[in-house]
Amino acid sequence: MKSLFKVSVGLFFIAAALATETGQSGHGTNGVPAYLNPQLPADQRVNDLLSRMTPEEKAWQLVDGFPLGGKTGEAHPGIGLMREVGHFAQKTKRLTPSEVAHLINEDQRRAVERTRLGIPILMNEESLHGACWGDATVFPQSIAMAATWDPDLAGRAAGAIGQELRAVGVRLTLAPVLNITRDPRWGRTEETYGEDPWLTAQMGLAYVKAIESNGVACMLKHFVADYGEGGRDSGPVYYSERYLRAVDLYPFEVAVRDGKARSVMAAYSSIDGVPCAMNSWLLNDVLRGDWGFDGIVCGDYGAVAGIEARHKLQIPADEVVSDYLKAGLDVDLPSSTNVVAAVGQGEVSPALLDRSVARLLKLKFDLGLFEKPYADESAADHLVQTPEHRELALQAAREAIVLLKNRNGFLPLDKGTARKLVVIGPTNLPLGDYTGTYRGQWEGHSISLSDGLAKVAPECQVIHLERYDDSKEVPADASAVIVVATIKEGEGMDRTQLTLPQVQEQLILDLAARHLPVVVVLCTGAPVTMESWLEKVPAVVQAWYPGQEGGQAVAEVLFGDYNPAGRLPITFPKEVGQVPIYYSTRPSGRYGDNMEKPRFPFGFGLSYTTFKYSNAKLSASAIQPGETLTVSVDVENTGSRAGDEVVQLYTRQSLAFMSTPAKELRAFKRVRLDPGEKRTLSFALGPAELCVWNLQMKRTVEPGTLDIMIGRSSAEITQTLQARIL
Ligand code: BGC
Repeated sequence: MKSLFKVSVGLFFIAAALATETGQSGHGTNGVPAYLNPQLPADQRVNDLLSRMTPEEKAWQLVDGFPLGGKTGEAHPGIGLMREVGHFAQKTKRLTPSEVAHLINEDQRRAVERTRLGIPILMNEESLHGACWGDATVFPQSIAMAATWDPDLAGRAAGAIGQELRAVGVRLTLAPVLNITRDPRWGRTEETYGEDPWLTAQMGLAYVKAIESNGVACMLKHFVADYGEGGRDSGPVYYSERYLRAVDLYPFEVAVRDGKARSVMAAYSSIDGVPCAMNSWLLNDVLRGDWGFDGIVCGDYGAVAGIEARHKLQIPADEVVSDYLKAGLDVDLPSSTNVVAAVGQGEVSPALLDRSVARLLKLKFDLGLFEKPYADESAADHLVQTPEHRELALQAAREAIVLLKNRNGFLPLDKGTARKLVVIGPTNLPLGDYTGTYRGQWEGHSISLSDGLAKVAPECQVIHLERYDDSKEVPADASAVIVVATIKEGEGMDRTQLTLPQVQEQLILDLAARHLPVVVVLCTGAPVTMESWLEKVPAVVQAWYPGQEGGQAVAEVLFGDYNPAGRLPITFPKEVGQVPIYYSTRPSGRYGDNMEKPRFPFGFGLSYTTFKYSNAKLSASAIQPGETLTVSVDVENTGSRAGDEVVQLYTRQSLAFMSTPAKELRAFKRVRLDPGEKRTLSFALGPAELCVWNLQMKRTVEPGTLDIMIGRSSAEITQTLQARIL
């Protein structure tokens, strides 16, 4: 059977080449091939192009030219994707945006002008919180963006990122990360929007819409559930289908259905034993079948090789490519040419090959690459690190900062009385993973915390001590000591301890023992536990990885120029033994040592002002499934400073047949209120907010009692209402 198939592939190859030579392929008007006619629908162009391609040319379309930089010469049939700039070009030399655009254009020119069919390359890069091809604007890390609870701002920041990608010719980005983190031991927690599917979906949607509207396709990752037991990166996942659909799959679904994301990255992990990169249920049934996704699916870097190497599946070598294509994966990232070999040896059915190639070509047509393959080199320098982008990065950093502790109003510091401040630790606040080029080389514009403090409070002397073991150098008359606390985390760096490194804990304790007022500024992308020192310090600020303008934003918060209003997108445990710990658990657990409560709950964050909630109302006491309930509440700033409040609405449904989470976030709004200002906010609860995955695994709105809880955090509910779904 197989040898017959090989013969027919060989014949097909010859026939295709002959057809091209004798000009038998379909032509559009005026002899222009149909695939080059932008007036025709993309599907028609795809079919025309496919009819002209040899199997080998098709196979090369499914190759990412990661290692082929600069080698796509005349004889080459032309690769499909390419990623080069951040990883190679900038390793030794800094390039300006125009130089990067030029470099990418050169690669593109080889594909467009020196290959037989002139199919453009799809240039791809990373851009989690900033375009990763050089010294582009660095925004706060994803977890920090989630802490803003401000999807509108996240969308504007992503718009800037999209512009900076597009400026140099990147048209596909390996972002955003839509994984849910319920175990902060996972080293990649910083890359996520936290523990909650609703918040993650809102932030992810804002990101995807903004990037896609800049003509850059998003690759949602990592599909799906990227860590396993113990918070281990890429570990096996055993969640039930109901849990997966309601929690881990949900943000991806929203990004596909509503955000129209055009690409997805299959994760390294396995679901119930089946690796995601070869998981037909996940890729064919859920993603393409249920959600109608018609873009491309790429495997995470080496995920296909990992099917055998890590997951230990035994697949005959000549079936691997065919098997992953059948399972719904299109491209084996990065750099694998296995598909070319497999096609050459007749191991892949023409229909299967065409299916994936057609998806990739369709994306290229939709992106307009055939009409406009090149970046505008002369414009690039004016589109990157613009004053507007810096201002956005600053605003995002401000909004992301969460005030965790403020004993007796220690903060904000008083510009009149604070005379001497000491900053210990990195005054250039760390930026987090996925910054700049490969391995985080980045030399863009930034402002240190010391400089930020000097700018905000010019009368105050600022002393910086870099080393954490320098506590003896701290003068006894310091008005405050600001400890910039950091941890090691990231991909391949999962944590077994959630405490700060010992030297930092000791520093805080030593300073406190000298009765120095310590403000701990946590520059981390995940929760740390702080039981040994929390009681000994007056104030703790969670600054995350706040981006290039973070030094100024933190300084403004410390001195009260900005009133902090970030809220935790992830629960902070007291002890590592409590994890996984998250607010929306089902309510049946029994805890032996009174450790059911976290240190700081999901949604928590303090302010320099106070807010009062009142007058919560429902539009009806009962609704039919399918109807929408409107909830309104008055919120008033009862303090003496202007500030933002993040009003959070949670629901709980009591059903006859299934236990449901104790509380689930279903709406939120960040509002700015002047002292004494009162505003009525309203929230709509319709089918999208009220549905559950029932016992038949159907998403429905079920009859039952609905508790509606409004408050300042998942643990501080100030208004409770009840309605019935009939
Ligand atoms: C990560 C992906 C990333 C890829 C390429 C992988 O190890 O899991 O998130 O896109 O590397 O940088």
